[in-house]
Amino acid sequence: MPDKLKIALLGCGVVGTQVARLLTEQADDLASRVGTPLELVGIAVRDLSVEREGVDPALLTTDAEALVAGADVVVEVMGGIEPPRALILRAIEHGASVVTANKALLAQDGPTLYAAADAAGVDLYFEAAVAGAIPIVRPVRESLAGDTVRRVLGIVNGTTNYVLDRMATDGLDLDQAVKEAQALGYAEADPTADVEGFDAAAKAAILASLAFHTRVSIDDVQREGITSLTADDVAWAAGTGHVIKLLAIAERNTGDDGTEGIQVRVHPALVPADHPLAGVRGAFNAVFIEAEAAGELMFYGRGAGGAPTASAVLGDVVSVARHRVLGGRGPVESSYADLPVLPAEAARTRYQVRLEVADQPGVLAQVAAVLAEHGVSIEAVRQTPAPDEHVARLLITTHAASERALAGTVEAIAGLDVVRAVVSVLRVEGA
Ligand code: NDP
Ligand code: HSE
Repeated sequence: MPDKLKIALLGCGVVGTQVARLLTEQADDLASRVGTPLELVGIAVRDLSVEREGVDPALLTTDAEALVAGADVVVEVMGGIEPPRALILRAIEHGASVVTANKALLAQDGPTLYAAADAAGVDLYFEAAVAGAIPIVRPVRESLAGDTVRRVLGIVNGTTNYVLDRMATDGLDLDQAVKEAQALGYAEADPTADVEGFDAAAKAAILASLAFHTRVSIDDVQREGITSLTADDVAWAAGTGHVIKLLAIAERNTGDDGTEGIQVRVHPALVPADHPLAGVRGAFNAVFIEAEAAGELMFYGRGAGGAPTASAVLGDVVSVARHRVLGGRGPVESSYADLPVLPAEAARTRYQVRLEVADQPGVLAQVAAVLAEHGVSIEAVRQTPAPDEHVARLLITTHAASERALAGTVEAIAGLDVVRAVVSVLRVEGA
């Protein structure tokens, strides 16, 4: 048994500071859980002059390469693609086990890292990369390994959930709410990754890969962020018994030609107010899974922030450290199923389409005719007056329709003379 394990920490920002704190404050308990002490031997940063609360400045270094070369376990919480990718590969080459929270890197180039870890016989763990503190990677990879997952529906970005919640409950505008989320440490360094859905898309790719035993990269994920949503959309959602959530969706599906495959997408969606995901407030995350034998499962908790994310990182550190003490490595992700990722246009959902139309006879019939021509079935229509007496507002809810059919329908409706504006088109999920 090694008399201690050397831990190298890459990054000392929102997450890294908390990882360093927990490694220090809980050193005795961690040693007991692992079976040998964990020694934090160094922390790689860019700027040595920055003061970091509770962190011994003597541990800081700008020489990340040298740090990883001498470690047993490397914890990467720097973020970004490079240098983390090169540093993780270097760590693996030197025989170190790796823990990372870096979903962007895993979603872009995970297979290269998994292959390197396999070849070296070391662990590469990444619980914190999806939904922060929530144990979700391990349950999907291990606890559900005997089941067949049909669908994963997740609120996996704390920043956007916080923003949408603040817009809904306090009428904040998008920019104000994003600034608050940044101040609270939820947002990525560049919040574009959050509000444009890149962060959620990376997590969707990781979850889909694990759930469907198939390699899914961020390029396979259809993505739409929340920047086009208005306070009016949020208010309308409430008026129709829904809340708007940015959802990451991964599901088994059948393509137009009968091919069995999967679809992975991230977009804002209307969620019925009585669905469990509708009650996920603030920066909380939740992942709702439908599996054949298990039925419906929901995992809920803090998806962002320094301490919650550090909790997941430390859980991984204990696991990989135990494996080093006891020998062997933990379960790895598999990609044996190799299911095709189906084109986005074949995805089928219900939609709510809001229109402003001329308030005159025959208008509803014209709009309904366009829907019928495209094979889109209407579930409900609600008409309300607009401030201009010659204009009416229409809210059309459809039955499940393909994205292709819906896109064609909306284009044709927008071209009708009697239609003043297509105000919004939102998918309805979880109904
Ligand atoms: P921060 O930007 O707060 O911290 C990044 C740290 O890495 C900083 O200490 C920075 O050094 C250091 N760093 C960055 N680039 C380099 C480099 N080239 N060389 C040396 N050091 C470098 O990021 P977070 O802590 O928020 O996030 C870290 C990772 O965790 C990311 O992958 C993120 O996606 C992930 N994550 C974050 C969550 C969160 O809530 N914040 C939640 C879940 C995952 P310096 O301080 O000197 O600038
Ligand atoms: N920016 C991310 C979020 C951090 O808001 O959820 C967690 O990955």
